[in-house]
Amino acid sequence: MTGRVTIVGLGPGDPRWLTPAASEALTSATDLIGYGPYVDRIGERPGQRRHGSDNRVELDRARFALDLAEKGARVAVVSGGDPGVFAMAAAVFEAIENGDPAWRELDIRVEPGITAMLAAAARVGAPLGGDFCAMSLSDNLKPWDIVEKRLRAAVEADFAVALYNPISSARPWQLGAALKIVSEIRSQDTPIILARAVGRPDESIRILPLADVEASMADMSTMVIIGASTTRLIERPGNEAPYVYTPRFYGVRP
Ligand SMILES: C[S@@+](CC[C@H](N)C(=O)[O-])C[C@H]1O[C@@H](n2cnc3c(N)ncnc32)[C@H](O)[C@@H]1O
Repeated sequence: MTGRVTIVGLGPGDPRWLTPAASEALTSATDLIGYGPYVDRIGERPGQRRHGSDNRVELDRARFALDLAEKGARVAVVSGGDPGVFAMAAAVFEAIENGDPAWRELDIRVEPGITAMLAAAARVGAPLGGDFCAMSLSDNLKPWDIVEKRLRAAVEADFAVALYNPISSARPWQLGAALKIVSEIRSQDTPIILARAVGRPDESIRILPLADVEASMADMSTMVIIGASTTRLIERPGNEAPYVYTPRFYGVRP
């Protein structure tokens, strides 16, 4: 079988964050597949077919990509951020595992991208400089009980926690419930980073103590980073935002 599927990470927004390898994969594809706004971020090329689709059809999109590749196409499936983080790479492998056995013969590649949590962290300093974990707050594909259990365990274990998919119009209450759990465990002055649309023209970054954070401050383009107990602010002169960082050591400074 000669076809190929490459799942390509576009990064969170700024085109300068697209890796040269991802760029090559996009250039050499015969077909681009992805959520419409992501496909729109890529310049048109003569002869290259573009298949933009709705956001909620990841598995259909994955099967379509595999079908095209089975017929010999070089398909690039595009994803925001990194394609392996709550995104299309896992959807493609889910489709392969449960689909046409012939798809297992295809050449499947994953081209990494900068994931939103790293772009958000870089904007404020180094809040993920110690141990951290990442979670999606979406309960579309897993029960809310599991989300709560994992979040509570992560906060109790004193990880900094990066929350993807914090809120949406279809999931309006989950972030409020998550903040309540965090408040039961962490002190009210824990630094929280609300990084919205990082790398896009409408980017906004807020650093607030836990006590001042409300779920309504986030939307579906927001990355929420919850500091660990060791995460601290370095104040700066005038109106400059503080730096936020989590030291690499825990307890006694070496
Ligand atoms: C379905 S997940 C996809 C994550 C993506 N694969 C990545 O690696 O960043 C979508 C969530 O990622 C976060 N996100 C994606 N792009 C972002 C950006 N430019 N700024 C802030 N958060 C972003 C938001 O939390 C959003 O709800």
